[in-house]
Amino acid sequence: MIARRHFIALSTCVTLWMGTAVPTRAASILASQAETTRSVRASDGMVVSGTVHASNAGAEVLAAGGNAVDAAIATGFALAVTHPSAGNIGGGGFMVIRFPDGTTTALDFREKAPLAAHPEMWLDESGEYSRTKHHNGALAVGVPGTVAGFWKAHQLYGGQDWERLLRPAIGLARDGFELTDRLGRGLRRLVTGRGAAYEGTVAYFSNEGRPHASGDRLTQADLARTLERIALEGRDGFYAGETARLLVAEMERLGGIITLEDLARYQARERTPVQGTYRGYDVISMPPPSSGGIALVEMLNILEGYDLAAMGHNSAEYIHHLAEAMRRAFRDRAQHVADADFADVPRQRLTSKEYAATVRAEIDAAAAGVSAPSDITDVYESPETTHYSVVDRNGMAVSVTYTLEGGYGSGITVPGAGFLLNNEMGDFNAGPGLTNTRGLIGTEPNLARPEQRMLSSMTPSILAKDGELVAVVGSPGGRTIINTVLQVLLNMIEFDMNVREAVTASRLHHQWLPDRIRIESGGVSVATAESLRRLGHTVSVGGSQGIAHSIMIDPETGDRLGAADARNVDAVAVGN
Ligand code: DON
Repeated sequence: MIARRHFIALSTCVTLWMGTAVPTRAASILASQAETTRSVRASDGMVVSGTVHASNAGAEVLAAGGNAVDAAIATGFALAVTHPSAGNIGGGGFMVIRFPDGTTTALDFREKAPLAAHPEMWLDESGEYSRTKHHNGALAVGVPGTVAGFWKAHQLYGGQDWERLLRPAIGLARDGFELTDRLGRGLRRLVTGRGAAYEGTVAYFSNEGRPHASGDRLTQADLARTLERIALEGRDGFYAGETARLLVAEMERLGGIITLEDLARYQARERTPVQGTYRGYDVISMPPPSSGGIALVEMLNILEGYDLAAMGHNSAEYIHHLAEAMRRAFRDRAQHVADADFADVPRQRLTSKEYAATVRAEIDAAAAGVSAPSDITDVYESPETTHYSVVDRNGMAVSVTYTLEGGYGSGITVPGAGFLLNNEMGDFNAGPGLTNTRGLIGTEPNLARPEQRMLSSMTPSILAKDGELVAVVGSPGGRTIINTVLQVLLNMIEFDMNVREAVTASRLHHQWLPDRIRIESGGVSVATAESLRRLGHTVSVGGSQGIAHSIMIDPETGDRLGAADARNVDAVAVGN
């Protein structure tokens, strides 16, 4: 039954794609802004990322015979140059890989707390919690993980020369590239806002002190030299020598606590992905220190007990059931999930079908549940991260989400080295016992401890069925990430949407607390919102949720179908 439904779904998609897909010639690289409004079809490889330069960098690697891990590394380094709000070498993230034989793995290159970190580090002299210390400035910077993650991915699974993978990024930094309207606006906000206090940021991201205009050429000579050191020396080009010295000098100047020892000790980790099933599909996603995979699988397990397709996409009944599943998964996330090297995370229980059945039994089809602010409430998370998806000619799939946390991270750019530093320490809880109804969390598992990794919501994911790759999905958006990925997958599986439709359809978010459903602008009719309110929900409509650059495989032809999410107009799918 499920297999048949899948077949019908994809037949429909093929018909839809016939009129809209951009054909790509083998080994030729095509890209245009128009691709954010349709799927891109390619027979061999596909890269979907936040900038044309980064997608091209990855696609060129694929065309030259590199595998999906090689392409993901080249794309990631190119994003660090061309998408500086979230692409990075000064932050961290996650990579989920599915090999052509169906085996899977995950790489964790999440930032970690420096050795001198401690749970009370966000309190000021009078013992009061300081949100500024927690989220801004040098103390908010975690030990970066991205370069170690890419290096480890390459050591374990890469095929092409490491140096070759950095070449596009070095060229883009050294020779420059033209600022889009979106990036021009972003850099203006950076150098007139939180970055204004940091000399490196003003020097690298303004035009001699004046904000750049869109169309200006951005060259980053010091970043190019840092990338050259990484190209020549690998991991040590970042974690030792000149780059490390420059990073630590800036930390010391600004009162930060990251030392050369912190950098030397940083290790990316290979982890076992979280695996779940939904109506015969296999869902492969990120384990702790991300909460993404566990919460995603928990929600899918809960929702598997309903006939969502019969409810209708974004009907009041559908939204109600999604919101009730989200409410409970986010409650469990807040109570249980943190870096599993430091906390006991009940991963098996939370992702089991049996547990989901007990949770489902709590859900009333005719009334909204209640979120009790017993010991956990809202915590700040910024909506700036970036996700990209890669599939190569052999069917190796790579899903990467990485971040500086806030847009442009801490706003601190390392003088002499040219890269922005994250403010990821803000993803640790505020301090012991500090949970209150105004938005702080003080529960134990996710407190800042030396070398612990802060809890994340990033959810790079892969969908497979009957041993075949189906889709590669992920998104930025703080805690909304998990719900965005959930809905893109449901759109594909339950509503037979093609990849463009699945990525474009309006999304919603509930995260337990605050107890509210947020629905994207235009996502529901006034009547549907009213029906939800009658069930007892608080509903707000507005804004935009996530940027889910995704790839789906056409089961008939095996073609790769890429969709850059038009919520970022700079994003591009490039195939070959
Ligand atoms: O790791 C996390 O979950 C957050 N630091 C991610 C922040 C984020 O997604 C911002 N995104 N657009």
